[in-house]
Amino acid sequence: MTDAATALEIREVSKTYGSMRAIETVNLTVGKGEMVALIGPSGSGKSTLLRCATGLVVADPSSGPIHIFGDKVQEAGKLSPKVRRARSRVGFIFQQFNLVRRISLYKNVLLGALGRMPTLKGAMGRFTTEDRRKAMEALERVGVKDHAGKRASDLSGGQQQRGAIARAMVQGAQAIFADEPIASLDPVSARRVMRLLHDLNREDGITVVVTLHQVDYAMKYCDRAVALKAGQIIYDGPIGGLGRDRLIEIYGDEYRDVIDEDGVPA
Ligand SMILES: Nc1ncnc2c1ncn2[C@@H]1O[C@H](COP(=O)(O)OP(=O)(O)OP(=O)(O)O)[C@@H](O)[C@H]1O
Ligand SMILES: [Mg+2]
Repeated sequence: MTDAATALEIREVSKTYGSMRAIETVNLTVGKGEMVALIGPSGSGKSTLLRCATGLVVADPSSGPIHIFGDKVQEAGKLSPKVRRARSRVGFIFQQFNLVRRISLYKNVLLGALGRMPTLKGAMGRFTTEDRRKAMEALERVGVKDHAGKRASDLSGGQQQRGAIARAMVQGAQAIFADEPIASLDPVSARRVMRLLHDLNREDGITVVVTLHQVDYAMKYCDRAVALKAGQIIYDGPIGGLGRDRLIEIYGDEYRDVIDEDGVPA
């Protein structure tokens, strides 16, 4: 059984595209307040799993239920009537294209408040003073307040990602699902974004599930690793359990060279 103390519960979920099985009978439970790295080779099903989790992708009819904080997202290939409510609790951050490019950073962040008010009111731009205060506060917290008035398209990738996190904060998200949020960032910006996610997790108790290609970032900032390979979970445990042999099992034999050449984890 699921309850509101469980941030994400995925039961027996599969997703097939044509004849391609992207994920296969995946079971995953993420507790409130966890910070989980979702890792695995390209094509292993990480994005598909995160998209199923928020109902952006509808899983196969053979699938069991997916719940977010007790609200059902989907089951047996059908979205639940509660999907909007479930989604409103999650800030979803993609690798890129997170912001509406032609409007200001401030307005983008303010849009986060739409998750918690009737669409019509939001569409007419009647944000409350409280919404506006929260937007500026969030921009300050993520360190891009000085860029509030800039169009999103004029910001760097790292600034945009921090803006997307600020929007999730204004939304009042209890969880953040981030799909490769640092893949296109330079190392300094990547570290800022990961630190920010880590702070939100530690200080605000926000549950974070983040897909990462960089194992070293996963090790530094996450407590638990879930590794997918060919659509199935092949490791789910403490981040410290990702030793050399396990990483080779996850990423394949060629990872041996990566470890030897870059000296990444022992
Ligand atoms: N919309 C789609 N239509 C058809 N096949 C898809 C679609 N989305 C994903 N796939 C396939 O499903 C499999 C899993 O893809 P997914 O994007 O979930 O992998 P991933 O682990 O996120 O990979 P990456 O690390 O490259 O982002 C891949 O074989 C991919 O080609
Ligand atoms: Mg992906």
